[in-house]
Amino acid sequence: MPSNYLYTDLSAYYDLMCADINYHAQSYGVRRLHQLFGNEGNTHLDLACGTGPHVRHFIDFGYQSSGLDINQPMLEQAKARCPEAHFSLGDMCDFQVDEPLDLITCFLYSIHYSGDIKKLKQCVASAHRALKPGGVFCFNFVDKDKIDNRLFERHTVTQGDSLFSFSSAWHYRGEGDKQGLKLSITKATGSVTQSWDDEHPMVAVNFEELENILKPNFDVHILEHDYEKIVPWDGTSGNAIFVCVKA
Ligand SMILES: C[S@@+](CC[C@H](N)C(=O)[O-])C[C@H]1O[C@@H](n2cnc3c(N)ncnc32)[C@H](O)[C@@H]1O
Repeated sequence: MPSNYLYTDLSAYYDLMCADINYHAQSYGVRRLHQLFGNEGNTHLDLACGTGPHVRHFIDFGYQSSGLDINQPMLEQAKARCPEAHFSLGDMCDFQVDEPLDLITCFLYSIHYSGDIKKLKQCVASAHRALKPGGVFCFNFVDKDKIDNRLFERHTVTQGDSLFSFSSAWHYRGEGDKQGLKLSITKATGSVTQSWDDEHPMVAVNFEELENILKPNFDVHILEHDYEKIVPWDGTSGNAIFVCVKA
């Protein structure tokens, strides 16, 4: 059964879960890609922006940055982090903007939250409509054919007198256009332990299928998943950065 504690009741713990992520390096890397592949504009929208860490960095780089997310508790934190930015509550598979943009981003594999191929296509179409000619849509993605269901990530963080443990893993059945992201969160305070298990429905396609969805409307560049170096995808890695330039 899908469950979604992390972005609602437990949203106050989201930044703790992501404490090891280098948001500055990710934002800086995509800014460099935008300088290289994009126009010279500075209007930006971050899809599935969460608590707004990338929006914060893009504003600090001089962008006029904004965010969109489907969960209001995440947006409340984003607004506190970036009071000067505009945030909207909405679905990345069906959004519109008042003025066309120069850069649209979607970090941390969040475009997979589109859920299935039909919605993924709607997300790509919405992003395409929202960009200026020469604008860039940049996101990272996992190839369904390269998912190893045995792999997971786990880390622990202390906050106050509580010890938190977070773990996450992709799970793909091996067929179809859907996979799951399994997340488990445990909070231990003294002798009291609480646990939550989330299962988030995600879209599953391989890179070839994704490229075919993007290619009619974008010039597509696939890069190795390294925000600090710009290296073309080697054709074997299971995750990559997609830089899509509106033709
Ligand atoms: C893994 S978090 C990533 C947040 C942020 N981009 C980051 O890198 O920390 C995924 C985010 O996607 C949002 N989300 C899920 N489905 C969405 C949808 N259909 N449209 C917009 N946001 C969505 C969630 O609310 C959550 O904030």
